[in-house]
Amino acid sequence: MPHSFATVQSINDLRSAVRDARQNGRTIGCVPTMGALHDGHLSLVEAARRETDFVVVTIFVNPTQFGPSEDLAKYPRPLEADLAKCRAAGVDLVFNPEVETVYPTANATFVEVPGLSEVLEGAHRPGHFRGVTTIVLKLFNMVLPDVAFFGQKDYQQQLLIRHLVADLNVPVRIRTCPTVREPDGLAMSSRNAYLSTEGRQTALALSQALKIAEQSLCDDGQSPAEARARMIEHLTATPGLTLDYATIADSHSLEDLDEATSEMVALIAARVGTTRLIDNQPIGLSS
Ligand code: PAF
Repeated sequence: MPHSFATVQSINDLRSAVRDARQNGRTIGCVPTMGALHDGHLSLVEAARRETDFVVVTIFVNPTQFGPSEDLAKYPRPLEADLAKCRAAGVDLVFNPEVETVYPTANATFVEVPGLSEVLEGAHRPGHFRGVTTIVLKLFNMVLPDVAFFGQKDYQQQLLIRHLVADLNVPVRIRTCPTVREPDGLAMSSRNAYLSTEGRQTALALSQALKIAEQSLCDDGQSPAEARARMIEHLTATPGLTLDYATIADSHSLEDLDEATSEMVALIAARVGTTRLIDNQPIGLSS
């Protein structure tokens, strides 16, 4: 059967396309995005195509997850290129609603995962995760997918979404897919487009620091405190980079670790010029 590709902007059209697919016995996969699609997003589409029968990509730059001084207005919106990538990648349906469709009235109802949404990214971007969990729940309620696919690059985000779904009994399975990197190690991100040639070189310090942490913990048998110090030393010695945080945390609670365990994650956020970048590396010591 030739592959059909459609785009819809209204919730009614979205629901009716998904209902038809489901009535034909197809399982529904959803890849929520804010557009400016890169190979990281396309790896989520590939996973969705492998694991489900009808793939919906949502493209929506969600205003409620941007702080007042953040890059909402200048966030890249290359819609035509995104649609071409979706079509070529075998996506069945793109849902790209207007802001007024998603938020017809000032949103009075928000969902929040307390605690976990207040540390690390949450501490540096107050209100960000409240916007993320709210839009993700709204998108789940609009698309009604069986499985939803997220990137591990946004480690804290996927953890919060897992909590949201478990706590509110949302009938969707969450899949977290590995971070896709450029050959030199830079994690793919829509925000990389903001980096100058020089800034892009500077940004390599994040993935380098993660490697240093991994080596420190796994090869050199050092403690999380030592690994953390080595990451911070590398990052703060990088000209043009301002560090927000670099830590070794428990991969579930995101609490800083003193003792090495089998479930750790190294997490970094830093600014290169005005571009804020995050990266992470799960690290497990085998016992
Ligand atoms: O990861 C993103 O692109 C966004 O935070 C998401 C999950 C699409 C919600 O707007």
